[in-house]
Parts: sequence; C-alpha cells; structure tokens
Amino acid sequence: MRVAVAGAGAFGRNHLRVYRELEAAGLGVALAAAVEPEAARAAETAEKYSIPVFATVDELLRADLRLDAASVAVPTVRHHAVASALLDAGLDVLVEKPLAATLAEADELVALAERNGRILQPGHLERFNPAVLAVEPKLRRPMFFEAHRLSVFTPRSLDVDVVLDLMIHDLDIVLTFAHSPVREVRAVGLPIVSPKVDIANVRVEFESGCVANFTASRVSTERVRKLRFFEPRQYVSIDYARQDVLIIRMNGSISAELAAAIAGGRVDAETLAQLTGGGAGPAPGLSLSKPEVMPGEPLRLEMESFLDAVRMRRTPHVTAQQGRDALALALEIQASMAAHAARAGLQNFFEPLA
Ligand SMILES: NC(=O)c1ccc[n+]([C@@H]2O[C@H](COP(=O)([O-])OP(=O)(O)OC[C@H]3O[C@@H](n4cnc5c(N)ncnc54)[C@H](O)[C@@H]3O)[C@@H](O)[C@H]2O)c1
Repeated sequence: MRVAVAGAGAFGRNHLRVYRELEAAGLGVALAAAVEPEAARAAETAEKYSIPVFATVDELLRADLRLDAASVAVPTVRHHAVASALLDAGLDVLVEKPLAATLAEADELVALAERNGRILQPGHLERFNPAVLAVEPKLRRPMFFEAHRLSVFTPRSLDVDVVLDLMIHDLDIVLTFAHSPVREVRAVGLPIVSPKVDIANVRVEFESGCVANFTASRVSTERVRKLRFFEPRQYVSIDYARQDVLIIRMNGSISAELAAAIAGGRVDAETLAQLTGGGAGPAPGLSLSKPEVMPGEPLRLEMESFLDAVRMRRTPHVTAQQGRDALALALEIQASMAAHAARAGLQNFFEPLA
C-alpha cells in the first residue's frame, strides 16, 4: 500500500515517522509522498524521508503516484477541504481528530466516504491506548465517569478550543463506553491564554441515567490524562499516559474511609496501601485487579488498524460516524459554554488579547 501524509506539522511528523517504521518492519506499506505548504517544513520532510513533498493536495494528486491511502494532519479547520479532495480521488483516509470543524462538514465527509466506498477513520487514538483496549472487554454498566485531561500550554492547535483539542478524546471514549444518547449538557469554559476556551468543565447526562464529568485544560502546570468510572459495585481507573488500569470490586461492605477515598477518585496504589494496612492485602470486602496491559504506542496501533481496514476493506475500529458523534457532543458543549458565558456576563473574557 502506498500512502501519503498531508500536513507535516507537530503531529503529522508522527504519522510520517510511524508509516516509515511500518515500512521498515516490512508490513506492506510504503510512505510515498507528503503535502506541506510551509517551505522549510516541506524541505526538511523531503530530505528526512527521501520523498516528494508537494505544496498542495492538488499537486499531489496530479503527480499520479498510485496512492492507496493518506493521513490528514492539517489544522482542524482544513480537515474537510483536504480529506474530501483525497476521498474524491479514491483514497482511503485517516483524518486526525476532530473529524471536522463543523457538523455540516463532518456529515459531508461521512456521506462522501460512503458514496465512494472509501474508508474514513477519525484519529481518536486513545481508543487504541492499550489501557482502554484492556478495559473494553471487562465493561459492565458504567454509570458515573470522571475524566481529567490536563496539559501545559503550548502554542499549538490554537485554531480550536480545548474541547476540540483535548476533551474530544474523552468524549469519544465515554460515548463508546456509555452506549446511550445524550440527554443534557452543562458546561463552563474560560479563555485563559488564547482567545478561545483553554479550560473547561462539563457535565453530561445520558438517557440511561449515566453521568459523566469532564475536565480539560491546556493551561495546567501538570500533565494528567485519566478516566475513572463506577459501575454497580465496581470502580475502574485508567491512566492513559502510564497505560495502567486498576479495577476494584466490592464483594461485601467496606470501611467508610475507603468508600470515601474511592468516591473521591483518590484510590491510587499509595492510598490503598495506607487504607489496607500497608499493602498486607486488600481490605475485607474488596478485590483488586490490574488487568494485563500490552504496552504500545497508541498512534502506531491506530495506524496499523487503519491499514488493516484498508487492506481487508472492513469497517474501521473507530468509525467516521463515531467521529461525527464525538464532534456533535463537542459542539453541544461549546453552545452550552457560550450560554453560560452570556448568563455570567463573561463576554469580555472572549475578546482577543491585545
Ligand atoms: N491525535 C492526537 O492526539 C493529536 C495531537 C495533536 C494534534 N492532533 C491533530 O492533528 C492536526 C494537526 O495538528 P498539529 O498540532 O500538527 O498542527 P500544526 O500546525 O503543527 O501542523 C499542521 C501542518 O499542516 C500544514 N498545512 C496547513 N494547511 C495545509 C494543507 N491545506 N495541506 C497540507 N498541509 C497543510 C501546516 O503548514 C502545518 O505544517 C489537528 O487536527 C490536531 O487536532 C491530534
């Protein structure tokens, strides 16, 4: 399979690297070209990978390189234009998250891929995080989620707010785990460093009664990527960065102190050791397990899965419709944040900084 990457910026570079790694591993893929309008980046990419780098997608397509598939890692506002040109040319496309900037654009991409019989996979790479893959088969009936995604400020992805930049990963995972339509969204978001929302807190209630709280920040002093959820008599904690899972099952009654620690999401190994007598074994009424997690780079797993879908002509593990649904929820959250800002008289915060 001959593949290309559109956008050789901060994240497109990872796609370039992984395709070349897969090529070197003899996995039936060849990195054949890239598209990058910025001259210095284009030259650097051409030299590093010994491939032609074009300034536009049109030039790439005119070059007739017999491409099978492409990754789209251009700024989100350009996903639709670039992905639709590639789909129109008959390529299968892995488009970075979020699928598009608007619902109309996402709908057009989904319809275009369907019409052309092409595979369109949105880049929700946390779905391939080995910790998530380890938890999925063990899911019972999650009823309460706490998602935290905090990162330090970097001047990237500022064409979108923190919801489309970071929270979208957790929205996609929780939508997949909760298996229920959204009933209500309540959200607050503030611009701190950029003119767009940099920190957001959201409460989503699903038709099933399941509730999810999301916090995302790109102006934090620490890096956290965690999802915790409760099912009847079971607590699951996923650390995306450490690729680590902890499952606690309640088999009987437990101490009030431990129940409070679990409910507060404070159950890490250290807390448990303290509460269970210095690691002498789990407290009565509890069973702890750490499912085996096969470590791996989520992006590489995502790209391997995309290439498998292309090769086998099968529905990708993350569908375009799921990318569209995550975007729809993100946009609903944005509307809720805007309504909150108007209620609270916060419009001035949203003015571009002088
Ligand atoms: N999956 C993840 O965890 C993750 C992480 C970071 C970024 N992303 C996504 O990747 C995308 C790119 O983000 P980034 O941080 O690399 O941005 P970036 O600005 O560093 O890179 C984007 C690159 O695209 C190029 N470009 C612009 N228009 C183009 C066009 N029409 N054709 C080809 N190239 C074009 C730019 O010159 C730039 O080099 C965004 O959609 C972002 O949401 C995903």
